[in-house]
Amino acid sequence: MSAPPELPEIVARAFEVSRRAGYVSFCRNETGRLLATLATTRGGVMAEFGTGTGVGTAWLRSGVRGSEARILTAELDPRLAHAAAEIFQDDPQVDVLSADWSTLTNKGPFSLLFLDSGQPEEVAVERIVDLVEPGGIVVLDDLTPCEQWPPLAYGRVDTLREEWLTDERFTTVEVMVATDTAALIATRR
Ligand SMILES: C[S@@+](CC[C@H](N)C(=O)[O-])C[C@H]1O[C@@H](n2cnc3c(N)ncnc32)[C@H](O)[C@@H]1O
Repeated sequence: MSAPPELPEIVARAFEVSRRAGYVSFCRNETGRLLATLATTRGGVMAEFGTGTGVGTAWLRSGVRGSEARILTAELDPRLAHAAAEIFQDDPQVDVLSADWSTLTNKGPFSLLFLDSGQPEEVAVERIVDLVEPGGIVVLDDLTPCEQWPPLAYGRVDTLREEWLTDERFTTVEVMVATDTAALIATRR
């Protein structure tokens, strides 16, 4: 995939914070560019479940248009949440919560939801659907690209991916963001 090597300034800042925290579990730049592109289409309130040290949040922020849209992001590990909060301390459009993502559920519905807590069992469609506004977008990343049906991962049917790709309340596509990784983009009908 081609992309210019320069990073948005806010993303570069997030990488610096990650490096200092010794944290490497952040989204890839290809996914980040996807998040930024989608964020540019959004108003209202976006949310991220699982902040890490704020790299995904920074990519989302880099795409935000205007001064109205907001991003809420929740991180379970207080040390990581503290590090991410540092990046956005002067930014009224981003709130980093040191909390389980379930504390965000009464702050929706969201115009974009990046499900990135790394706990697939927590993000079944049924649990997420009412958190997303009509036309709202859900993003799940870190999937192994798969060209067969039903989708397989680690030698088993990937039931989470199967569920997201078939639920009639969403229009969903799996996109390869690089040769070795894919994301789901699901839009609430
Ligand atoms: C893959 S990392 C997040 C990376 C980040 N979204 C990015 O793009 O840079 C997953 C993070 O989710 C956090 N996490 C796991 N369960 C969580 C929960 N229930 N609520 C909030 N955060 C959670 C983990 O502590 C971890 O830091």
